[in-house]
Amino acid sequence: MSQLLYEGKAKKMFTTDDPNVLRVEYKNDATAFNGQKKASFEGKGRLNNAICTKIFKMLQQKNVPTHYIETISETEQLVKAVSIVPIEVVVRNVVAGSLSKRLGVDEGVTLARTIVEFYYKSDELGDPMINTDHALAMEIATKDELAEIRRLALDVNDALQAFFSEAGILLVDFKLEFGKLKATGEIVLADEISPDSCRLWDKETHEKLDKDVFRRNIADLPETYEKLLKRLEDVK
Ligand code: CDP
Repeated sequence: MSQLLYEGKAKKMFTTDDPNVLRVEYKNDATAFNGQKKASFEGKGRLNNAICTKIFKMLQQKNVPTHYIETISETEQLVKAVSIVPIEVVVRNVVAGSLSKRLGVDEGVTLARTIVEFYYKSDELGDPMINTDHALAMEIATKDELAEIRRLALDVNDALQAFFSEAGILLVDFKLEFGKLKATGEIVLADEISPDSCRLWDKETHEKLDKDVFRRNIADLPETYEKLLKRLEDVK
C-alpha cells in the first residue's frame, strides 16, 4: 500500500510498506518566486531525477550521509524517512540572486570565502533569513544539530564544486535541506540537489544551466537541463 504523504512544488512523497522508506516522485512542474510563477515542462521530472541521482551517488561515494537509497524508475527514487529540519541552508561561492540585491554587489563576483545562510522554512512567511541565535531561541534545532548541518553543508560544497568543475561548470550557490533519520535521529542530507536548487554557470561563458533560465525567461528549461545532464554524464 502506497499513500500520498505530501505534495510539494516539484515532488510528491509516498509511503511504502516499510515505515522507514519513502518513495519520491519528481514532477514536471516548475515554480519560482515562492510559487508566484508556475509552469509545467514535459521531461523535467525525468531530468531532475537523473541529475539528482548522479549527485546523490557521488556524495554517497564521498561518505556524505544522505537520505538516498536507490532510483527505481525514470522519475522515482526510494529514500529514507526523515523528519525535516525546517531550515533551508543556502551555500554561496559566487554572488548571485538575493545576495546581489541585498548587499548591492554585482552577480558573478567571487566571494573571499564561502557563505552559509539559514532560512526558516515557511511558505507563509516567505522563508525569512535567520541566524543561529534565532534557530536556538525558536528551538528549530539544537546547537549540535546546527554545527553538524553547517559542517555537512560545507562538505557537500567541496564535493559538488569538484564534481561540477570536472564538467567545466561553476557552482555559484545552492540550497540544501537536512533531516533526522526516523530510525536513529542522525542528521542526513535530504530533499534534492538539482538545477532547481543550484545556480550552475558554464565556467568560460557563464551561460546559465539552472532554473534561472525559467525565473528570468532566458532559455527553454528542459533543453537547458538536458544540456546539463549531458555534461554531467562525462564525469566519472
Ligand atoms: O533564487 P533567489 O534569488 O530568490 O534566492 P537566493 O537566496 O539567491 O538563492 C540561492 C540559491 O538557493 C539558488 O541556487 C536558489 O536556486 C536556491 N534556492 C532554492 O532552491 N529554494 C529556495 N526556496 C530558495 C533558494
